[in-house]
Amino acid sequence: MNIILMGLPGAGKGTQGKKLSQKFKMHHFSSGKIIRRMAHQDNSLGTVVKRYINKGELVPNEIITRIMKNRIIKSKTENKIFDGFPRNKKQIHDLDRILSIIKEKINLVIYLKVEKEELITRLTGRRICRLDNSVYHIKYDPPQKKGKCDKCGANLYQREDDKKEVAQKKIMVNRKKLEKVKEYYQNKGILEIVDGNKESEKVEQEIENIIKSNE
Ligand code: AP5
Repeated sequence: MNIILMGLPGAGKGTQGKKLSQKFKMHHFSSGKIIRRMAHQDNSLGTVVKRYINKGELVPNEIITRIMKNRIIKSKTENKIFDGFPRNKKQIHDLDRILSIIKEKINLVIYLKVEKEELITRLTGRRICRLDNSVYHIKYDPPQKKGKCDKCGANLYQREDDKKEVAQKKIMVNRKKLEKVKEYYQNKGILEIVDGNKESEKVEQEIENIIKSNE
């Protein structure tokens, strides 16, 4: 089964994607994670990509599609979960085209619906481990020792694009485009909307029930 987990920045795609990929043995494709890794590389592409991310803007379609294509085609796992891709109409068609090469398609799309205020709280409170990239939240999922990762003890940091101004811009940049993506999958009859405002475990349970009823 191939699933898209969609929602505005901070909706919980990464959090849920990680849990689901472990539970259902799915390959988790997070476009944000992939693109951020690229931004850390000391080359011209890394510099270009970093500029888009830090401004809260979308990376050009050609770049993101090329990266996703390589990874999807190389993936040996039958079950895939896409988080953060596709984000616009062009990317929807790119993904369909890539999946058709390996004779697959999208079976289910889960939309995590979260209020704007809550999105801002989640983004501005998100903290990441410098070493192993574990994700925390200063209010909802704080580390045991302030500013330190529970797993490896390394320092936590705030993503540049999680600062309030950029977080607001990210939501604005993505809103209209995501509505179009939502409409597309709604018309195909494969969209399920989940109330993502609830606490993480409840959201996870609801997604799990949807997946099981679609298996
Ligand atoms: P990306 O990494 O996708 O960042 P984002 O858009 O800011 O949103 P996230 O995906 O990080 O948020 P999330 O929904 O995963 O939330 P999370 O689970 O972490 O993209 C970064 C950039 O890369 C983009 O701006 C763009 O430049 C580029 N990019 C990526 N994909 C692209 C594409 N397809 N096309 C073009 N450019 C692209 O949760 C957030 C916080 O809330 C965490 O601290 C978590 O602990 C907490 N939390 C999660 N769920 C809950 C809950 N239920 N209750 C309470 N707290 C919760």
